[in-house]
Amino acid sequence: MGAKIQPVSEKTPLDDIPPDPKLEVTLRPALLDQFVGQARIKERLEVLIGAAKAREDSLEHLLFCGPPGLGKTSLAHIVAKTMGVQIVITSGPVIEKAGDLAGLLTTLQKGDVLFIDEIHRLNKNIEEYLYPAMEDFRLDIIIDQGPNARSVRLNLPRFTLIGATTRAGMISPPLRSRFGLVNRLDYYPAEDLQHVVERSARLLNVEMEPAAAFEIARRARGTPRIANNLLRWVRDFALVRASHPVTAATADAALAMLEIDQDGLDEMDKRLLEALIHKFDGGPVGLNSLAVAIGEEPGTLEEVHEPYLIMTGFLKRTPQGRVAAKRAYDKLGLKPTGQQKELF
Ligand SMILES: Nc1ncnc2c1ncn2[C@@H]1O[C@H](COP(=O)(O)OP(=O)(O)OP(=O)(O)O)[C@@H](O)[C@H]1O
Ligand SMILES: [Mg+2]
Repeated sequence: MGAKIQPVSEKTPLDDIPPDPKLEVTLRPALLDQFVGQARIKERLEVLIGAAKAREDSLEHLLFCGPPGLGKTSLAHIVAKTMGVQIVITSGPVIEKAGDLAGLLTTLQKGDVLFIDEIHRLNKNIEEYLYPAMEDFRLDIIIDQGPNARSVRLNLPRFTLIGATTRAGMISPPLRSRFGLVNRLDYYPAEDLQHVVERSARLLNVEMEPAAAFEIARRARGTPRIANNLLRWVRDFALVRASHPVTAATADAALAMLEIDQDGLDEMDKRLLEALIHKFDGGPVGLNSLAVAIGEEPGTLEEVHEPYLIMTGFLKRTPQGRVAAKRAYDKLGLKPTGQQKELF
């Protein structure tokens, strides 16, 4: 079948741009007004924050779900800043014992935000402790062991829990139901990402034509973090080529060098589609088999690659497994064969 599967050790283009945590902090929007897009979520937050402030009450617990880099952490910071409260940051896998949770919760003042990133990775046992803390602002912890074991009740200030997750499906229903508002962040349309790129370019003092910003935006997989990373690459490329203001042609040349194609697909997306078509005859195939075939973690495929490929119409998820859509065949310049042919 002439499969052209890439060797598994090959990096994706974005791995060539090392992350720059300092830059992420510089570019992170600090206020709701600076947060581009996601209008529905912003409106809801404005209502909730406005009402909580008017009542001089703490904000209800919030959950932000969605693929990496869409702004969940940024929103948590924005909410705390707008409410004028402190934010304490932790993440699901870090909280190992009830004592760790107690330590975090007892540092909070009334109204403060406890931000738990990757909340789907919270230990089930810790989750049980969290329920009364979220609902009744109390924590019953067992201290000591054996005959000396006794339960101690801690009364907590009315705090706000903000959870973030890339895997909404892995949040248990009892935990999910304790959030006052569940917000699902969607991939950004290119027009919104263009605003993100233009804002970041201003902050980085990069002069750029609007068409160049759009060129970056439409190849950024609907993701602000990727848009910012690509901008950084284009900035460096333009500096070396002495191209300023940055034009669309310069942006295009810079991104072509990273092999990021017009649809924003990266090497791993393409590898996934190629494996699906060449090795599995277009599917249906289970997630795990696909992951093994391309040497990627099933979780990463499900969290990062699949949602984008489904959104852009390259991939379909059926009860039988993953199936290549016609657009995937077109992209690879192939004609559907066998069973797939019947479907299109
Ligand atoms: N709506 C937005 N407007 C402007 N910039 C944004 C927006 N959303 C995200 N960004 C930019 O993208 C970066 C990544 O966003 P953030 O860290 O909030 O994503 P995340 O959803 O928490 O990702 P992860 O799941 O990986 O933790 C931010 O530092 C910010 O620069
Ligand atoms: Mg985050």
